[in-house]
Formats: sequence, structure tokens, C-alpha cells
Amino acid sequence: MLAPNQPSAASLPRPLAKRRLLWGGATASSQYEGAFSAGGKGLDTQDVRPYLPRTSNATTATRLLTRSAVERAKSDTAGTYPFRTASDGYGHLDEDIALLKELGIDIYRFSISWARLFPNGDEQEPNAEGLAYYDRVFSAVRNAGMKVFLTLTHYALPLNLVESYGGWTSRVLIGFYVRFAQVVFERWGEFIDFYLPFNEINAGYFSPWNGVGLIKPEDGPYNQSDVFQSLHHQFVASARVIEMQRRVAPACQSGCMVADFCYYPHTCSPEDNLKTIREEQVNQWFAIDVLARGFYPTYMDRFFTEHGIRIELKSDDLEVLARHTCDFVSISYYQSSVCSTNETAEHTAGNLVCTVKNPYLQATEWGWQIDPIGLRTALNKLYDRVHKPIFISENGMGARDVLERDNGSAVVHDPYRIDYLTRHFEQIDEAVADGVDVIGYIMWGVIDIVSAGSCEMEKRYGVVYVDADNHGNGTYERIKKDSFTWYRDFISSRHGNEE
Ligand code: BG6
Repeated sequence: MLAPNQPSAASLPRPLAKRRLLWGGATASSQYEGAFSAGGKGLDTQDVRPYLPRTSNATTATRLLTRSAVERAKSDTAGTYPFRTASDGYGHLDEDIALLKELGIDIYRFSISWARLFPNGDEQEPNAEGLAYYDRVFSAVRNAGMKVFLTLTHYALPLNLVESYGGWTSRVLIGFYVRFAQVVFERWGEFIDFYLPFNEINAGYFSPWNGVGLIKPEDGPYNQSDVFQSLHHQFVASARVIEMQRRVAPACQSGCMVADFCYYPHTCSPEDNLKTIREEQVNQWFAIDVLARGFYPTYMDRFFTEHGIRIELKSDDLEVLARHTCDFVSISYYQSSVCSTNETAEHTAGNLVCTVKNPYLQATEWGWQIDPIGLRTALNKLYDRVHKPIFISENGMGARDVLERDNGSAVVHDPYRIDYLTRHFEQIDEAVADGVDVIGYIMWGVIDIVSAGSCEMEKRYGVVYVDADNHGNGTYERIKKDSFTWYRDFISSRHGNEE
């Protein structure tokens, strides 16, 4: 019996029609393909990053390259440059796509190597051998019955664009980029379901070599005006690509992507809370506000003034950004983060940023704090902010897997990864029940790839093991881990339940 003022069921808003979630897996060209000089490919920004044995300095040194480091890399024949061989995806294409088909994923996320299509980045015409390679990739994925989630650029930038133009500080890159993207949409647009103009666009701020192709000064930090000018050029390039794609390949869905840090205040002090909000704005929401909502948020004015940052805008830039916002938003989510005004608080590593340690969470061997509930929180906050469908375009557990022999067969037992995924998937279901419009989930590095942060092979995310070490030694054989069977069964149970 209804109470007097209680609405009847007929007058309640109808629940949103639930989507059938897409389950996927991802690689990125530079971390996966290898074959760095095959088929006329040019050198790119990842090919010159060396493997350096793990210390905190090594991670920074291989992520933030100086001019002398680049020069050294170009003529170095003795050092290890993991992205040059990566997982040899180039040489294992058919085998890998067959494995993904067996896994049963709905959607495969991969990226195009800009330098394979335009070796120097600034040519008028694309490289025919690069086109032929991606013809094979797109048709293999299509024939395996998977949808395509394409990242146009995942960190790797033709090195010539850095050396001759100063990377994304230069506005001319927008034109080169739109030309590259137009070739992609004209040739493969019919195969592409979802796409991102840039991977984790906020990475440009934390990792300017990977994100925006900036050379680090030999002694000292980056010039922050260069960093934010470069980001501005990437924002305009994103909007221009979306504008062009809507003419050339209107069925594709355009997205934007940030690394989501899911910030918590360390204490309930007003100071910690305010700091959390500010970090969240600058580090995470800024790019989302520009690309998904179409405007430069006012909170950046103060940040720019306080940091002496000046950006040059062309007269129609703001209008272009306002008119060509993306269709969906997406995040990578690996860990939550903690903000504190206490400068002596203990820190730990995370994706792109270090964070204060959270005593309630465990961490991976690399210090990234595991927080499945944080994923639900992140999804809710993002959806509240933009009200656009969300794709979880990266998540997964980087771990040191051990290849063993069991009655002569190669096996990898990775219960920790199965536990990680199970707990994150539960929280995706909770977020959907909260009303968040989630399109799908994509597991990062579904086939083992080289780490983008630290250039290691031993930090593995995949459900398929690749037999190679940090120095590129190994057979490159593919071995299904225990998590392969687990993920395959999970996806198939989802399909069964939803049919
Ligand atoms: C994201 C990147 O930052 O995190 C990926 O988009 C990267 O390229 C992933 O591989 C995991 O980071 P890492 O440093 O463990 O490879």
C-alpha cells in the first residue's frame, strides 16, 4: 500500500535500458609490435628509450629524455631498447589474433604507429608498407569477429617531429596529425567502432616525453608553458580529428581519455580536502572538461597565473573545442591516490604520479595501490561530471609472473591477477547498478607487452605470457596463463547471462 505522498510505480522515471557490456583487451603499437625498422617505419620517441635496471632514477631517466640521451640512443648498438623488439606482435599477428579470438573478447584495443604510416610524420603521402601491415591487422581483427577500439596515438611520436619541430609545442603538428588521422579513417573507418585521438592525454603533464614529445632540459625541469601549450595543441588536434571523422567515417564513436587517479584526502582536514580538489581539477578533470564538455575550465586561470604559464590560442580555437566534443569518455584506472598537505607523509608509486600511501590498501610489487572500490568511485564521479557513456579503456595488474613446467608443458599460475580482476569486475557491476553508463571494460596488455613507464618486460599485465626478458632475450613463444581460462570463462558466462 502506498503512503499518501509516495509516487506510484507508473509515475517513477523508467530505469535506463542497460547496455550489454563489452569485454576487451588492449595493446599499444610501441609496446607490442617491435619491428621498429621493418617496412620503412621511422624512428619514434619510444624507440630511443633504453631499459635501465630498476631504481627510481632509472624510471625517470628513461621516461624524460634529454637531447644528449636521444643522440646517444640513435647511435647506441650495445644498449637495450625494449620498444625496438617489444613483444614482436608484428611477427606474431595471426597467432595473437587467434588467441584473442579463443579468449572470446568482444573488442580489441590497439594503436597505430604514426611512424609506420608516416616515417617522419611530415610527409604528404603515407608509407605503402605501413598501410599494408595495418590492412592485415584490421582484417584479421574483423575476421575474428571482434570490434575495434582504436587509439590513434599511444605515446609514440615520429622522432623527426621532436627534433625538427619541437614536438607538440609546435602548432604545425596539428596539420600533420589530422592528415595522418584522415588516412586512417578513409582507409579503415568502416572497421573502427570506438576511437581515441590520444591515449591518456593528461600524461603530457606528468610525462612530457611520452605525452607530448618534449625534450627535457639537461639540467632542470620542463618549461610549464611548453607543456600546456603542447596540451592545447593536442586538444585542438583532437577536436579537428573529430570534426574530420564525422564527415569521413560518421559511424565511429569518438572518445577522450585520461589516466584517472581517484584522489582521496589524507585526513578530513579542510586543507587536505581542498588540496585534493585542486589536484583532481588540474591533474584529471582539466582535459576532460576541455574535450568532453568543450571549454577551458575557470579553475585553470588561477593555476596558470600562479605558475607563470602562458598559452597562445588562435582566435577560433575555443569555438572548435566547443563544437567538436567527444561522444564518450574513457579512463585508465590502476590505483587510487591520496593527497596530503603534510610534505613528510610516506609516498608510493602509481601510474604517472606518486601518491601518499594509503594504510587501508595493499599494493603491487611496483607500489601501485590496489583499490577496486576506487574504480566504482571513479566511475561515479566521472559520470556525475560529464553525463556521457564511459569506456574503461585500461585496467589490470602489473606483476612478475613465473613461467613454470608442469609435466613438460609451460604454465603460468597467476591467482593474484584473477583475484584483482574479480574484485574490479564486481565494482564495475556496482557502478552500473549505481546508474553509471559503462560501455565496456578493456584489460590492459592482454598479451604481455613492454611497460610504458619503466621499459621492463617483467612487469606483465597479460593473460597471455610472452617468453622474453628485459633485454629482449627469449623465444617470444605465447603461453596461456591461468587467468586466460578464467577471463575466457568469465566473458562466456556474461554472454550466456545476457542472451
Ligand atoms: C598507462 C599507459 O599509463 O599505463 C600504458 O597508457 C601503460 O601505455 C600502462 O603501459 C601501465 O603502465 P606501465 O608503466 O606499468 O606500463
